Amino acid sequence: METIGYAIVGAGYFGAELGRIMKEQEGARVAAILDPDNAEAIAAELGCEVETDLDALCARDDVDAVIVATPNYLHKEPVLAAARHKKHVFCEKPIALSYADCDEMVKACQESGVVFMAGHVMNFFRGVRHAKQLIAQGEIGRVLCCHSARNGWEEPQPSISWKKIRAKSGGHLYHHIHEVDCIQFLMGPAVEVTMTGGNVAHKGEHFGDEDDMLFILMEFGNNTYAVVEYGSAFHYPEHYVLIQGTKGYIRLDMCNTGMTVKTMDKPEEARYLLHESQEEDDQRTHIYHSTEMDGAIQYGHPGKKPPLWLHGIMKNEMKFFNGIMHGDPVPEEFKPLLTGEAARAVIATADAATRSLRENRKVKVSEVM
Ligand SMILES: NC(=O)c1ccc[n+]([C@@H]2O[C@H](COP(=O)([O-])OP(=O)(O)OC[C@H]3O[C@@H](n4cnc5c(N)ncnc54)[C@H](O)[C@@H]3O)[C@@H](O)[C@H]2O)c1
Repeated sequence: METIGYAIVGAGYFGAELGRIMKEQEGARVAAILDPDNAEAIAAELGCEVETDLDALCARDDVDAVIVATPNYLHKEPVLAAARHKKHVFCEKPIALSYADCDEMVKACQESGVVFMAGHVMNFFRGVRHAKQLIAQGEIGRVLCCHSARNGWEEPQPSISWKKIRAKSGGHLYHHIHEVDCIQFLMGPAVEVTMTGGNVAHKGEHFGDEDDMLFILMEFGNNTYAVVEYGSAFHYPEHYVLIQGTKGYIRLDMCNTGMTVKTMDKPEEARYLLHESQEEDDQRTHIYHSTEMDGAIQYGHPGKKPPLWLHGIMKNEMKFFNGIMHGDPVPEEFKPLLTGEAARAVIATADAATRSLRENRKVKVSEVM
């Protein structure tokens, strides 16, 4: 089997773990890392080289693909550099903080004839794949509506992470784009979006400047809708995607981790795993009910290792990307991740929501494309 050489740009919480996982894949080798702060430590751990210049990294003969896991506002430069050097790309979510940047990144890869994979990891949840299957089989009938919330309470921060600064992370909506992406995978792209909210309880030096309460209404143009809440101003934590169909419902619960399905022909709800094992689901439930939560999510930072459930889906994702690099066929359900369709669609919806909040009106997604 041919060996694919990977470079990692950004080796913090996520990039380092993607590197660790990729190193274990068949026919994969991590060749080099670029990170102004953490390259030396992670390169020593993975047994690879350090590069300090993006073009030099991308020009290396032993690099076939570049994994981009820099902070959200720093994805574009490494993606464009990889495309310039005709190297394939895996880019973390959110792909960009504007539709124009996202489109430029996807186009650059397409014009160079390289793969661009969007790191929308929620598509690799066992529960999400199962839900898509059940919907395709007609188990819950036609999907009419989705509800999702990713809410918690944020305490004063000892130092402010880039993840809390709107210009760097995009705020809760862009940083936690997973739920909107998941809903659009199930329901298609939104046509019109309304968003309201603001920073209601987290102002001052111990907090970032992102909005801590966001309410989004997505309309799909065929009498189908979705309602999504995000924020860190909710003492009652919730994290779920609920899919309501004409014949039943599917609930993906990330707090009391698991998936429940109710169809009209069965008297009881059926319960399934959300992740790969009961242990992964239980660990996630435990994290949500312990002190590790901070602002609705467990924020990672360089040096921290992702929990079991997250490691599991990252592994699925890297295995998939490595398979694509080795010429595996792309299953229908994952095609939007590789064509730029999912990346463009979700950033367009986020931009439309942002404009809706700013201009206090309903916005057509086509206005921002
Ligand atoms: N899919 C998921 O569930 C998930 C979870 C966590 C993070 N992420 C994404 O992964 C990316 C990284 O997040 P993280 O949690 O690892 O953050 P982090 O702060 O832990 O790591 C970011 C790393 O990037 C490095 N860096 C900063 N500027 C750089 C530059 N110009 N070039 C190269 N490296 C640079 C930093 O030194 C740091 O090591 C983000 O886009 C984030 O949204 C995705």
